[in-house]
Amino acid sequence: MRNYRRALITGATSGIGSAFASRLPSTTDLMLTGRDLARLNDEAQRAARPGRRVEVLAADLTLQQDRDRLVARAEEFDVDLLINNAGAGRLGRFLDSPADIEQQTVLLNVVAVVDLTRRLLPGMLARAQETRRRAGLIVVASTAAFAAVPMFATYAASKAFDLQFTEALAEELRDEPVDVVALCPGATRTNFGARAGWRNGGLPGAADPGDVAADALDALGRQTVCVPGRLREVALSPVVMPRRLLTGALGLAMRFVAGK
Ligand SMILES: NC(=O)c1ccc[n+]([C@@H]2O[C@H](COP(=O)([O-])OP(=O)(O)OC[C@H]3O[C@@H](n4cnc5c(N)ncnc54)[C@H](OP(=O)(O)O)[C@@H]3O)[C@@H](O)[C@H]2O)c1
Repeated sequence: MRNYRRALITGATSGIGSAFASRLPSTTDLMLTGRDLARLNDEAQRAARPGRRVEVLAADLTLQQDRDRLVARAEEFDVDLLINNAGAGRLGRFLDSPADIEQQTVLLNVVAVVDLTRRLLPGMLARAQETRRRAGLIVVASTAAFAAVPMFATYAASKAFDLQFTEALAEELRDEPVDVVALCPGATRTNFGARAGWRNGGLPGAADPGDVAADALDALGRQTVCVPGRLREVALSPVVMPRRLLTGALGLAMRFVAGK
């Protein structure tokens, strides 16, 4: 992995975000953000290493004013690796889900990703050019990005956005000093399943968040779309199946997962 100097990790209070903080080398300073300040401080303590600067900022990324505060602090911090990891979704029938929950999903998984990336990337590129180093951008999408997912409609569509947005940026930025990765994890052992309302909080055989974060960091500078672990071949191989059939099959599976 390249040696980035200062990383901003969103959603650093648990799961894959916390794993990114543990897996980055001790030479990378960290800015950790999430809503829960007590957990951010715990994570900062865990990530502390001799000579490493670790800063925390509590922010709700669905709120414009919190994103403004974060962008200002991240610019001062001279971030050169942006990890857009914070994300959430709610399992269930679209019409049974409160409108504000659906909107929060889009604000967090889509609007915040575009806003932070658009505002931080110019400074990251300028610093990379000035110092003759490379910047890095990771956007955490999902294997849910590869197909329409009934019972998780807004979440999967938001992750399809994240994937296509990141792939397009990687192409636009191919001659710039920045490594771009769309990370597409499958089920991973984090708080995500319990928060989303998965039956029993998750799926058997879910991946370790440390392995997922390590795969994404390894992918920087090597590949644009990173599907960690065993799902790589399935997710990236062409699907010779009518879309309607695939959506129907996923709908059956998701109703089972939701216990409906
Ligand atoms: N786990 C899986 O099976 C899986 C599979 C595919 C993709 N993913 C993706 O992986 C990413 C990380 O999720 P995870 O699995 O590590 O789940 P997690 O343990 O629930 O972590 C989610 C993180 O997002 C933060 N967050 C949630 N809402 C926020 C908000 N409004 N503003 C700011 N931060 C917010 C949370 O922090 P606070 O609660 O402190 O705000 C937390 O740190 C997400 O983008 C998710 O969609 C997960």
